[in-house]
Amino acid sequence: MKVMKEMTQTVNSKWWQRAVIYQIYPRSFADSNGDGIGDLQGIIAKLDYLEMLGIDAIWLSPVCRSPQDDNGYDISDYRDIDPMFGTLADMEELIQEAQKHHIRIIMDLVLNHSSDEHYWFQEAKKSRENPYHDYYVWRDGAEGEYPNDMRAAFGGSAWEWVPEIQQYYFHQFSVKQPDLNWENPKLRQEIYDMINWWIGKGVGGFRLDVIDQIAKEPDKKITNNGPRLHEYLRELSRETFQKADLVTVGEAWGATTELAKLYSNPDNSELSMVFQFEHICLDQIEGKEKWDLAPLPFMKLKEVFGRWQTELCGKGWNSLFWNNHDLPRIVSRWGNDGQYRVESAKMLAVLLHGLQGTPYIYQGEELGMTNVQYEIEDYRDIETLNLYRERLEKGYSREEIMRSIHAKSRDNARTPMQWNDGANAGFTEGTPWLKINPNYREIHAKGQIGDEDSIFSCYQKLIRLRKEYSVFVDGDFQMLLENDRNIFAYTRTNADSRLLVVCNFYDTTVSYSLEEDVTDMELLISNYKDADQTGVLRPYEARMYLKK
Ligand code: GLC
Ligand code: CA
Repeated sequence: MKVMKEMTQTVNSKWWQRAVIYQIYPRSFADSNGDGIGDLQGIIAKLDYLEMLGIDAIWLSPVCRSPQDDNGYDISDYRDIDPMFGTLADMEELIQEAQKHHIRIIMDLVLNHSSDEHYWFQEAKKSRENPYHDYYVWRDGAEGEYPNDMRAAFGGSAWEWVPEIQQYYFHQFSVKQPDLNWENPKLRQEIYDMINWWIGKGVGGFRLDVIDQIAKEPDKKITNNGPRLHEYLRELSRETFQKADLVTVGEAWGATTELAKLYSNPDNSELSMVFQFEHICLDQIEGKEKWDLAPLPFMKLKEVFGRWQTELCGKGWNSLFWNNHDLPRIVSRWGNDGQYRVESAKMLAVLLHGLQGTPYIYQGEELGMTNVQYEIEDYRDIETLNLYRERLEKGYSREEIMRSIHAKSRDNARTPMQWNDGANAGFTEGTPWLKINPNYREIHAKGQIGDEDSIFSCYQKLIRLRKEYSVFVDGDFQMLLENDRNIFAYTRTNADSRLLVVCNFYDTTVSYSLEEDVTDMELLISNYKDADQTGVLRPYEARMYLKK
């Protein structure tokens, strides 16, 4: 029976559908040389830790050469490693060493824009006749008269004037991140060559930064989901990804379930999957920015998850995540980082890892790392600093701005990894580039490894279970207790077995009744020691059952 199951798995599913992927933000993971910044050798030194956790692949946020205006999301050489992180030889070593630990390396491809210090842009801005000029998006105009009123994501106009050639260039992010012109076939070919060069180095896949913005049409004020987007993606995939057995995940803020079926069509014509953000944008005032805080509408959260699970089943593939380097820590955000930190972190893990899709764990999530509340001087993130300045100018009070920053700043996720309770949490022997979360004395990896009640062990177990039971990969999703205002419950069912997940999302005790009979089910995992089965869930209680 066991053998049979494994056979069906290998025939019907792809490696990345059975995988769990771990995201590393290199500058905050582990510093090997005492300069206060994490690096590639630091990651190599932690491969044992990652193998112990059980993950299959690492998504590395950008490590290519970069002036670091946006922490590496502004690349000045796509074929070299930034000296801050190491050398190309270190990268090759990481790919090989990771392989020995059964871990693949997924690189972050930033293809919507480059750094303004990239050779292409340096050339492009020399003259309108320069062969690289058309690698970027230019419009005529007069100084001070912008082509239109489009705004950049990090504040200010999306247009920047270059007096030498009397033109504006378009940038959806910072002024140091000029947008690449995908309409130019030469630029596209250049990108494919670069990707194939990395594939040749043995990487396991790619995460594609803001990929749904590459087909912009600024004259029509189109940023996401431009008319030629899927044409570009199909060409990109054909020219690169399809030549190897890779995982590809696109960051797509504008994705709907309909679009996600195109992106992640099982015919492999575009990508393996996308990150969609419908669930993660729920706690903000509708139509406003993430900084405009609103309580999480829990019923809506259930509706969103349910819809993505049902609609993509068999027709696409979901990515599953609570965190990344741009988002606040989930335990502080939708869990409870006080009294119930451990319970709620585990509940959120159980809820997510039982769903259909590929789960992503962001560094420190497996320890229940939390948000921080720093003074503005201690923040480093360009988005946070610009927001602070902009809102002060607009007349917001300091308190109100800081409340938004404490809740949503990207630096919440970027504080250094907490390895132990020693100096600098074991992250560096120097001065960390961003202050360490002061709670590192209580929350750190060393204290959790080997402790069967720890959050780390919970993640370890969830990863192991996914490998053991095919129902995690191919089971059909069914939402239960749809109208319950506290509980998130569902089943996953395939020919062999049935998974039942019941989670209390809040800090009060609640009761429920299910038709499902759990007496003949095995309790696979729970976050309370004495998990009774009486139809009551204590604060943040989570249970996962299996019926074989
Ligand atoms: C993506 C990245 C983010 C970056 C932006 C611009 O959203 O995740 O960190 O700032 O793209 O590259
Ligand atoms: Ca370093």
